[in-house]
Amino acid sequence: MKKIPLIIDCDPGHDDAIALLIALASDKFDLKGITTVGGNQTVEKTTANALKILELVGRTDVPVVSGRSNPMMSKLRVAEDVHGASGMDGPVLPEPKTKSLNMRAVDFIAEQVEKSEDPFVLVAVGPFTNIGTFLLAYPHLHHKIEKIHVMGGGVYEGNRSQLAEFNVWNDPESAKVVTDSRIPVHFFGLDVTHKALIRQDEFHLFRQEKGSVFQFVADLLDFYSICYVQERKLEGCPMHDSCAVASLIDPNMFTGYEAFIDVDIEGSKTRGACIVDIRPQERRLGENNGVFYMNVDRLRFLKLIIDSCHKLEQDLRN
Ligand code: RIB
Ligand code: CA
Repeated sequence: MKKIPLIIDCDPGHDDAIALLIALASDKFDLKGITTVGGNQTVEKTTANALKILELVGRTDVPVVSGRSNPMMSKLRVAEDVHGASGMDGPVLPEPKTKSLNMRAVDFIAEQVEKSEDPFVLVAVGPFTNIGTFLLAYPHLHHKIEKIHVMGGGVYEGNRSQLAEFNVWNDPESAKVVTDSRIPVHFFGLDVTHKALIRQDEFHLFRQEKGSVFQFVADLLDFYSICYVQERKLEGCPMHDSCAVASLIDPNMFTGYEAFIDVDIEGSKTRGACIVDIRPQERRLGENNGVFYMNVDRLRFLKLIIDSCHKLEQDLRN
C-alpha cells in the first residue's frame, strides 16, 4: 500500500504533540517533515518542542523546519494561558540535541511537494501562516496537493471570541488563502474537537502504562486539564489537532458537511470566524471547497491514540 506523502505544520502545543505521536506511529504516512509556526508559543519554543518530541520517540530521522514567527498581517498572540510558558508545560524533557534545518519552512514544503511523485497531503494544526505563505509563493505547485487537513474554526463555537477559534483567529488572512485556494480543505473545528476528548476518568489509561511515551502523554494531559477541566469545566482534554491526523488514518471515524467555507477577515467583532455555508447548493455563497467535520466516534479515536502510544513504545524497545 502506497504511503501518503505528508508534512505536518504545527505549534506544539500539548494537543499538537499527541497528533504528532499518532502520525509517527502510523504506517500510512511517508512523513517528509514537521514545520513549526508561531502559535501556542513563539516559533522558537514550538520548534524546540517539536525536536524534543522526536527525540523522545527516537524519530530524529524526521526533519524539523522552523517557519513564520508572526501571522501574515498581524502580531502573534500566544496561548500561554493554555499551554504555559514553554508551550508544552508539564512534561520534563531534556533540551533537544538535534537542530532544525537551516532553511525556510515554506521552501522546505515547496521542495518536498515538487519532488513528490504522488499527490501530497498537508496538515496544519497551528495558525495557517506557513501553509498560506507557501500557497501564495508557489502557485505552480497547487496541483500537486491532494488536500489540506486543518484544525481550525467552528460553526457554533469559538475559543478566542464567540465565533473565532485560536488558529484562524491568529491568522485569518492565511486561513482565507487556504480556503480560497480551491485545494480541498478538511476542517476539524471546535464543534468536533470538543467532542474528541480524552476524559479525565480515562487519564489513568495512560498513567498506568509503563514507558516514556505513555508517561509523556499522561504528563501532557495533567497540565492541559488545568485549562480545559479545571477552568473551562470540560469533561476532559480536547485532542483538537489529533482529529486532523486521525481522519487520514481512519476517515470513517468522523462525519461532517460538504460546504462552501470562507473566513471573515474584516469584521470588527467577527474577524477570524469561519463561514460554513451548508444551505441548499443554489443558495450557497460559493462552490463547495471542503468538508467541515462535526462528529467523531470518540472511543475509536481514543483507541487510536492508545494504540499509537503502544506502537511507539514497541518501536523504542526494538
Ligand atoms: O484552538 C485550538 C488550536 O489552537 C489547537 O491547534 C491548539 O494546539 C492551538 O494551536
Ligand atoms: Ca496546535
